[in-house]
Amino acid sequence: MSSINQESIREALKVVKYPGFSRDIVSFGLVREISINGTDVDVQLVVSTTENAVAKTIRDEAIQALKGLVGTGRLNVKVDVQAPAAPTGNVGPARIEGVRHIIAVGSGKGGVGKSTVAANLALALAQSGAKTGLCDCDIYGPSVAIMFGGNERPTADDENRIIPIERYGVSLMSMGFLLDDGSPAVLRGPMVTRYTQQFLRQVAWGNLDYLVLDLPPGTGDIQLTIVQTVALSGAVIVTTPQEVALIDARKASAMFAKTNVPVLGIVENMSYFLCPGDGKRYDIFGTGGGAREAARLEVPLLGEVPIEPLVREAGDTGRPAVAAHPQSAAAGVFESIAQKVRQALP
Ligand SMILES: Nc1ncnc2c1ncn2[C@@H]1O[C@H](COP(=O)(O)OP(=O)(O)OP(=O)(O)O)[C@@H](O)[C@H]1O
Ligand SMILES: [Mg+2]
Repeated sequence: MSSINQESIREALKVVKYPGFSRDIVSFGLVREISINGTDVDVQLVVSTTENAVAKTIRDEAIQALKGLVGTGRLNVKVDVQAPAAPTGNVGPARIEGVRHIIAVGSGKGGVGKSTVAANLALALAQSGAKTGLCDCDIYGPSVAIMFGGNERPTADDENRIIPIERYGVSLMSMGFLLDDGSPAVLRGPMVTRYTQQFLRQVAWGNLDYLVLDLPPGTGDIQLTIVQTVALSGAVIVTTPQEVALIDARKASAMFAKTNVPVLGIVENMSYFLCPGDGKRYDIFGTGGGAREAARLEVPLLGEVPIEPLVREAGDTGRPAVAAHPQSAAAGVFESIAQKVRQALP
């Protein structure tokens, strides 16, 4: 097969995403060596993680991605697991100067609506008069930029700190703003966690009452780094009513418990569909899961957000529901969630 060369292998590996990220393993700098011998291919990857499952997932997906290309030749993918770099500077969680409360919005499962909840919670907090910021902590997650519209690049101040972008009264920052696809692999594997912990402190947040962190899905190294190095006032866990999502929500709550971060409560998203035709409520993903989980963890159920097409539309068009459709049922729930968060963290 003449098509096998370093470049084609690298290209094929780009479909493999680092678990929990939308960024691929090639641009993360995880490929250490590719050697080709006739039709045989040896790939060596290096990953810095405390979780063997991450290495296994990456290996399985890399094999999957290369199988077709290598064809009848021998394919060997080796993943070298290194311990993540120890946090630099202060050991233990540190505050961000000027910021009163930092709230993490997390879940174990992808796609349950964390970013939607984080964005609308931040907006509702801002509208209630609190100075509020929102940070997208997925290094390559453009969701905050998309949900709030606009693609301006942030600029830096005199002290070389990044100035957040203002939208609807919320100070926004995304780790994704600072990198684009064409950028060199600034983030070698072991650097990911260090970058994550430094990033938040390099932003000129100013004085904030609340800084909402939109965490990437899962409970891996990145989430753990944030939870361990940033002094969080509390966490909001987002789930859908289904058991699969609840299992992952439990993992997220265990992560927060392990690091002594109080869980402020659970938000059940996509709780039900209010049919505009007949006005009836349909429990598409089942019912009561969020409430049961909240009872089990002995934390409040902060709200049940209905599935409303306008929520998705609003998110896709750069004006979250609380700003675009303040009269909607979903916006009402987001506002009441914000009120409960304010009561918990005055
Ligand atoms: N209540 C809702 N009603 C309708 N659509 C919703 C609702 N909540 C979220 N969505 C839509 O579902 C999709 C996934 O939501 P979102 O991006 O917030 O999830 P996420 O948990 O942040 O995902 P990821 O794990 O990828 O970060 C988006 O298109 C969003 O607009
Ligand atoms: Mg998200």
